[in-house]
Amino acid sequence: MRYLTAGESHGPQLTTIIEGLPSLLPLTAEHINHDLKRRQGGHGRGRRMQIETDTVEIVAGVRHGKTLGSPVALVVTNDDWKHWTKIMGAEPLSEDVDPDEIKRQISRPRPGHADLVGGMKYGHRDLRNVLERSSARETTVRVAAGSVAKALLKELGISIVAHVTEIAGIKADASLLEGKTANEIRAIIEEDACYCVDPVASAKMVEVIDATKKAGDSIGGVVEVIVEGLPAGIGSYVHYDRKLDSKLAAAMLSINAFKGVEFGIGFEAARLPGSQVHDEIIWDEENGYTRVTNRLGGLEGGMSTGMPIVVRGVMKPIPTLYKPLQSVDIETKEPFKASVERSDSCAVPAASVVAEHVIAWEIAKVIVEQFHSDQLPQLKAQLDEMRRYTKEF
Ligand SMILES: Cc1cc2nc3c(=O)[nH]c(=O)nc-3n(C[C@H](O)[C@H](O)[C@H](O)COP(=O)(O)O)c2cc1C
Repeated sequence: MRYLTAGESHGPQLTTIIEGLPSLLPLTAEHINHDLKRRQGGHGRGRRMQIETDTVEIVAGVRHGKTLGSPVALVVTNDDWKHWTKIMGAEPLSEDVDPDEIKRQISRPRPGHADLVGGMKYGHRDLRNVLERSSARETTVRVAAGSVAKALLKELGISIVAHVTEIAGIKADASLLEGKTANEIRAIIEEDACYCVDPVASAKMVEVIDATKKAGDSIGGVVEVIVEGLPAGIGSYVHYDRKLDSKLAAAMLSINAFKGVEFGIGFEAARLPGSQVHDEIIWDEENGYTRVTNRLGGLEGGMSTGMPIVVRGVMKPIPTLYKPLQSVDIETKEPFKASVERSDSCAVPAASVVAEHVIAWEIAKVIVEQFHSDQLPQLKAQLDEMRRYTKEF
């Protein structure tokens, strides 16, 4: 299973083509739109999110609410495109158009963005040619693809949720997660401005986001994704590129502005003795093999253990600041202070939605590769069999 995305931030549309999905999977635009809306929300988003209301159109691969087994194509149109037809049009500019009239070239790279090196790499002196694609606007269709993957996981009895655990050093109380299922966590965070389970921490996060915005600055944070219901034995220890943890880490780090990833207790493992890190194994008739704890986040030897997968990603602060940072104009080589048209001050809640979807995609992809998956009912039956087999092993 694979997908490609195409589209510029201010182009006419974002597009994805998903190939390799099983047939007979129930899928509607409404299901995907719910996730797109969540990506646009969360406290701290800027003006762009008020301009766009993302909705998806399913243009191939689905008939009467079910996948056909053929490629699924999804399109999200940019509502703002009407204001950008000249600046971003695909046709050559006609000679009578004064380039100044359509907006001056961008020659001032923003620190922390792809602008400067992207310009060098592809030979663009107008850095708009870089930022239009390096923008996190592209995560819209990654969420759409992940939403399709989530529809598949749901059919297979696998739930996934992401939530914000930390913004600007304010940490959610992790004990509030104890005993809660992924769906219960979802019910809480969908009502919260920061997509956080801890209302006290969330209120403080809102305060710090507002204060940061006022100061013209930006802040980052940590998001956590939990996957429940995955049978043991998904992924493999036999080869480096089949290890599930390496795939999940790569997916997390593929999100714009994500700089680190950890599983379970994560980096804390470096500071603890082995007896306080590894999860002891038990067996009972009802649950089969489980672990007394889940400090390793549901992964051993590059495979799922059957315990919930717990993976966190750290997002750096948004690089575009209203309080400008120093940079150099590539035309004049003169220093300048990078100024801003519009930007978020904190996109950690929105990024948690992206994280949920890129992880969902990776899990669904590994399952589809590991089992015979032309048709959903066959795939379902094999997952059920895997659960039965690993329980009694
Ligand atoms: C959901 C989301 C929204 C983002 N919004 C902005 C934004 O409004 N302004 C900005 O400068 N960066 C934003 N970013 C981060 C940049 O896209 C990212 O830092 C940039 O592409 C450089 O990539 P790198 O940080 O991975 O090196 C956002 C990231 C995500 C995941």
